Amino acid sequence: MNTPFEPYRIKMVEPIRTTTRHERQQALQQVHYNLFRLPAELVMIDLLTDSGTGAMSAEQWAALMRGDESYAGSASWQRLEATARHITGMPYILPAHQGRAAEKVLCQALLQPGQVVLSNTLFDTTRAHIEASGASGVDLPCLEAADPALEAPFKGNMDLSALEEQLRTLGDRVGLVIVTVTNNSGGGQPVSLDNLRAVAEIARQYRVPFFIDACRFAENAYFIQRRAPGQSGRSVADIAREMFDLADGFTFSAKKDGLVNIGGLLGLRDPELMERACAALILNEGFTSYGGLAGRDLEAMSVGLREVLDPDYLRYRIESTGFLAERLHAAGVPVLRPSGGHAVYIDARAFLPHLPPGHFPGQSLAAELYLEGGVRSCEIGTVMFGEHARWDLVRLALPRRVYTVSHLLYVAETVAEVYARRSSLRGYRITEAPQMLRHFSAHFEPIERVAAVRPA
Ligand code: F0G
Repeated sequence: MNTPFEPYRIKMVEPIRTTTRHERQQALQQVHYNLFRLPAELVMIDLLTDSGTGAMSAEQWAALMRGDESYAGSASWQRLEATARHITGMPYILPAHQGRAAEKVLCQALLQPGQVVLSNTLFDTTRAHIEASGASGVDLPCLEAADPALEAPFKGNMDLSALEEQLRTLGDRVGLVIVTVTNNSGGGQPVSLDNLRAVAEIARQYRVPFFIDACRFAENAYFIQRRAPGQSGRSVADIAREMFDLADGFTFSAKKDGLVNIGGLLGLRDPELMERACAALILNEGFTSYGGLAGRDLEAMSVGLREVLDPDYLRYRIESTGFLAERLHAAGVPVLRPSGGHAVYIDARAFLPHLPPGHFPGQSLAAELYLEGGVRSCEIGTVMFGEHARWDLVRLALPRRVYTVSHLLYVAETVAEVYARRSSLRGYRITEAPQMLRHFSAHFEPIERVAAVRPA
């Protein structure tokens, strides 16, 4: 069967206001065409991010009531710690209010100024925390990742020869190797178990700690089960455990595969690093048994971590992303292949070949999708990364357990409508922007087409 089956039914609904094209046109002008500035109420389908935007289950809502709000030694923390240890096998687990807080604690506890961190692709907050510690980050994605149209099963992999080369030349300046699963900034592509094994082995040879950015660990493990030879008979939980067994630690944003709206974790094996991390955690996030979260948040995460490994949930999750990607592909829309786990990425340079990167094709497409159907997406390209952008993508990130197949069909129709009149889309220029992270707040304006000069 081709229709993804949502393995849940709806118990409670949240109305979506239907907006008119005129309202959306006005809203776009008011927010200077920056979709981050839109009131969410004026968005009909919100695919800005899959982070913290999921729906909790009845079990999670019930668990909230069990939340133990004790400052120290909370029973909720003990339950979460036991669940996280069971899934990851890491002896030391610390809570944090979200992924970037875990990254901050790790960077403060581990890195020295002048050190280098090697990755398949660092997420932007991870890179920012590395740089805030005086270190720098280097991305070493595998070669297949460079071609958006190439069909390959594990385009999230790290380039192993580049990793060895960097370790040989930089020697003990390398402070950390971290692999992001799935590779969000590289198109939500999975990393293979073989690649993780090889990275772990190389890092061990050079005595460099190897960590996993585990935001989407369950989606990655599901891809391994489906795509890697010899893995189909194993449970996703078993594969996930092997991923974690290879690492010296992990950072985790529970806003993704923790199935909660807020929360994060840091997992460690080294007792000395744990001691330094505890000190950094207490300073930044709070005591080691709550880490910036309420007891009820810890409960919900503990239930979410178990639910995310449910085979029915994961099949629906990955199939529904693939379903949207296939619809777009069939309509001729250039999408990054194969489809990622949490999002479909449209190749805006191929979609709008008449717009050079300096006219922000991703921004143009994202604004138009909002105008056409009230669909909010996210530019990942020249606006976000400036001239360092490798590509201009528009990410349609799917919140977990929120939208139905008919919502996805609506999104596909919206994109197809815009695709049919793609040559009419205009480029944009930035009229105002802050120094850092400009995509969140920059002002844009459309570049008016230069009218053809009429012969006298
Ligand atoms: N690592 C990865 C791979 C991420 O995708 C994110 C967040 C983080 C770390 C930071 O986690 O938001 O809990 O602090 N990604 C979101 C996104 C924001 O839209 O892709 P956080």
